[in-house]
Amino acid sequence: MWLKNCWQVAGFATEIGDRPLARRLVGESVLMYRLKNGTAVALQDRCPHRLVPLSSGQRVGDEIQCSYHGLKFAGDGRCTHIPGQSVIPPNSRALNYPLFERQGLAWIWLGKPDLADESLVPDFPWMDPPSWNQSYGYHHFDCDYRLMSDNLLDLSHENYVHRHTIGNQEEESIAEYPVSVTVEEGTIVRVHREMPKIEPPPFFQMFLNTTQPIDRWQTAVHMPPGIHMTEAGAYVTGTPRANASINRIMHLLTPESANSTHYFWCVARNYRLGEASLGESIIKSINTTFNEDKTLLELLQRALTAAPEKNMPRFAIRLDEGPLRARRLLDKWVKSESSGGSFVAPVRSLVSDEAATPAMQTLRDGTHSG
Ligand code: FES
Ligand SMILES: [Fe+2]
Repeated sequence: MWLKNCWQVAGFATEIGDRPLARRLVGESVLMYRLKNGTAVALQDRCPHRLVPLSSGQRVGDEIQCSYHGLKFAGDGRCTHIPGQSVIPPNSRALNYPLFERQGLAWIWLGKPDLADESLVPDFPWMDPPSWNQSYGYHHFDCDYRLMSDNLLDLSHENYVHRHTIGNQEEESIAEYPVSVTVEEGTIVRVHREMPKIEPPPFFQMFLNTTQPIDRWQTAVHMPPGIHMTEAGAYVTGTPRANASINRIMHLLTPESANSTHYFWCVARNYRLGEASLGESIIKSINTTFNEDKTLLELLQRALTAAPEKNMPRFAIRLDEGPLRARRLLDKWVKSESSGGSFVAPVRSLVSDEAATPAMQTLRDGTHSG
């Protein structure tokens, strides 16, 4: 169900400061803080002596002092001080996790430490200003992250779950517009749909500043285990597509436990870049929209938990193709990882026409193909 040999989002870089931040990630208790030189570090939130959470201790300089017997640990996990003795046993080390910051995100590696390779940290250039503008937020969902992946790969639910926000109330169902589903290089699941000449839903009216008919596309892009991007592009019908307003909505899912998930999100937009008030409106709309998903998915999770023996879907419909292909890919990777060895979840660029970074280029050339 979970993958560990991959980089996963531990938080926004701005969340990690002087004060230790405790967070459960992929079933592990983690403690993160920033050293005086600015480097963010992550330790297992468990004292190696008697297993007390280190987050109940205090920070002393660049070290964490356990709240029970006062042992001190450096950011790399080394035990530096044991009250009453000068000998530091070699097995007194606290577990340290590799942490890497990029584009405002802190990525953690919870798998085998010797397989952690920073060139595999996903790269999202549109999360860098200034050619795109970013709005950020966080939700906590009390459900299995895979239910969230299913949801993000079938956007036809907009008509029903989001009828007051990003869906249309009167519009013929989004499901009527055909989708193409592709799995690229055995790594990226892409579900694409074009919707020409439609009435703009409320969210689109807001960001396009129009009530005229629009041509709209939506592409759900997914790289297991937890990276999703929804590209929503739109332009007034009859105007050039090259001038479309594009939102790249990043949904970065990190399991907390079997039935709860951290949902870090960012809306990157390529239009009306200087308008701070637009960013605030986007955050407000997205909060409402994702709360609608939260209500539905938590309801679903409660129903599945209440009757676990009956939780297999009875049948599939055409719209399930994207979610099903993603589940198959994830299951395959989980199997490869759990069989031991050195399987590492592969990483590719989410946007095929984006200039490849040197790291991505290396990956395309066949390294780490998993
Ligand atoms: S439990 Fe942490 S110092 Fe003993
Ligand atoms: Fe949704």
